[in-house]
Amino acid sequence: MENKFQHLIDLDDYPIEWVKKVVELGHDIKEHPTRYIQACSGKIMATLFYEPSTRTQMSFQTAMIRLGGSIIGFDNPATSSVSKGENLKDTTKIVSNYADILIMRHTQEGAAKAAALTADCPVVNAGDGGHLHPTQTLTDLLTLHEEKGRLDNLKIGLCGDLLNGRTVHSLCKALSNLEGNIFYLISTPELRLPAYVRDIITSNGCTYKEVNTIEEIIGELDMLYMTRIQRERFASEAEYYSQKDTYILDKAKMQLANKDMIVMHPLPRVDEIAVEVDDDERALYFKQASYGVFVRMALIMTLLDNKEPKSLLCGETHKGITCHNAKCITRSELYLPKSFTKDSDGNYVCEYCDARINPAD
Ligand code: NCD
Repeated sequence: MENKFQHLIDLDDYPIEWVKKVVELGHDIKEHPTRYIQACSGKIMATLFYEPSTRTQMSFQTAMIRLGGSIIGFDNPATSSVSKGENLKDTTKIVSNYADILIMRHTQEGAAKAAALTADCPVVNAGDGGHLHPTQTLTDLLTLHEEKGRLDNLKIGLCGDLLNGRTVHSLCKALSNLEGNIFYLISTPELRLPAYVRDIITSNGCTYKEVNTIEEIIGELDMLYMTRIQRERFASEAEYYSQKDTYILDKAKMQLANKDMIVMHPLPRVDEIAVEVDDDERALYFKQASYGVFVRMALIMTLLDNKEPKSLLCGETHKGITCHNAKCITRSELYLPKSFTKDSDGNYVCEYCDARINPAD
């Protein structure tokens, strides 16, 4: 499908060299912020947040203001025309005519891609349900760049809700494009990393190991990425409570870690990192959040430059097939073209949410 704008829906839409350039620009902005104060003067950014957010929304807003631009938007769809039944297509069409760039967070998977199909400006995926969160990954990559001095040859532990944690999915996809990274996936069997993300790690040439406890692996790691159990994505409260508090990083466990292992967390924290860990100099999650502003400044500048418009849907449209994922945007926005690619096993892959559909099902 023809597309005039440079969106960020999934970092995998770009070569890793592009991603590194954004991170390096983020580094330059951090070092020389005053050079960039007029970079987006006269431009408007809209934040359309259909789901709660503190850091992502405010860091995007701060980023645009620091670049000399202005901001509009909503963070509660109940106070917008969405509450009157306006569909995603119409809201996007209208707001993308007011703004030069649109930042969207949504409850449904694939929503940002769906919005980009009709937007008249670049769209950024600021989190689409439990699917992806590419700008958190840019934040995480800048943190590794600044604090570890490299993005490759790292032993990376990821702990918690690896099934529903979109930040983990985007991070694994990006870091597996870099040589020598090894992933240690610390979760319960119920909250394992989705099979499609595990397959991407291996097809990119990296290795992963699934483990049950923090203690058995923390001594090996260069970085431990803690995540909260994503309460809002569980089918029932009982399922959530069966997983809650399985993993808590505390001072005793930190004593088993290397002196230069860093602890990251996309935040918000619930109780998976004990507050006593905050004083440990290896606890970098608050600093990590501050890096988010620099890298989002870099991203806004890059996308507004609009050098590399990309096709959004590359597969085939199938009227007769419905995505099986109940959380896919195509299940609620029924006008969307249902588009699928095929994987090596002959499954259809939904181009919005990445769900695999076996044609025999
Ligand atoms: C994350 C998110 O929204 O996915 N937070 C963030 O953007 N910094 C993590 C989470 O909600 O657990």
